[in-house]
Amino acid sequence: MSVTGTVRQKMPADIAAMKGGAPIVCLTAYTTPIAKTVDPHCDLVLVGDSVGMVLHGLPSTLGVTMEMMVMHGQAVARGLQNALMVIDMPFGSYEQSPQQAFANAAILMAETGAGAVKLEGGQHMAETIAFLVARGIPVMAHIGLTPQSVNTLGGYKVQGRGDDRARLIGDARAVTQAGAFSVVLEKVPQGLADQITADIAIPTVGIGAGAGCDGQVLVVDDMLGLFTEFKPKFVKRFGALGEAADQAVANYAAEVRARAFPGPEHVFADEANK
Ligand code: KIV
Ligand code: NA
Repeated sequence: MSVTGTVRQKMPADIAAMKGGAPIVCLTAYTTPIAKTVDPHCDLVLVGDSVGMVLHGLPSTLGVTMEMMVMHGQAVARGLQNALMVIDMPFGSYEQSPQQAFANAAILMAETGAGAVKLEGGQHMAETIAFLVARGIPVMAHIGLTPQSVNTLGGYKVQGRGDDRARLIGDARAVTQAGAFSVVLEKVPQGLADQITADIAIPTVGIGAGAGCDGQVLVVDDMLGLFTEFKPKFVKRFGALGEAADQAVANYAAEVRARAFPGPEHVFADEANK
């Protein structure tokens, strides 16, 4: 993107500077047309590994591969000129060692043009976050409910209640200390999210964490009403595109069966200039 024109694509430092100010608006995107739709309205666009469930019909995010992330990341990059693009590191691509994380984060950044990566985990990933940041890769952390750990967490449960509260506060401090420029808080009680937001120096971006966070993120297909397999409590549907699509397809099928489509305006004459 041009650095001299009127639009300068946002960078991680711009997001970090929004701490405590106007809420940071974030959505996911997986394709060029949706990236173009959300870009003018968003500060940050996330190529989430939710793509596996939302677009590929996978039962969880565990089956998402580097190849899938690269392909969707390239598509999203073609649609952005304003928002910062952040790309998720998929399950298995970063947990083994800081070196493994760097090698794969570098591939994601170089092949897609993303401005940062996001990875799941708090205290146990702090060393990896610091390793990446020291080597030129901005990192957004993701704590609370971390869907790639669904099997060890025992489901998609609210995190940080009761005795678990101190763990979440420790995670938030650890990723801040490690140099993350921002942190996603997923499915944590509102009061805890408020406390963490006040406690750490980097912006919190909530999903199921209340309005007190420094920003909000949703899965775009959820908020558009396109993904209707299930609706988590924290999702608000701002549109009903799934219903609209169903109606449009039903109308098309009825018109084809009635030979009402195509009409005279959709056909070509046998001779030119007619
Ligand atoms: O993959 C994703 O869409 C995410 C957001 C829900 C934060 O990680
Ligand atoms: Na994700």
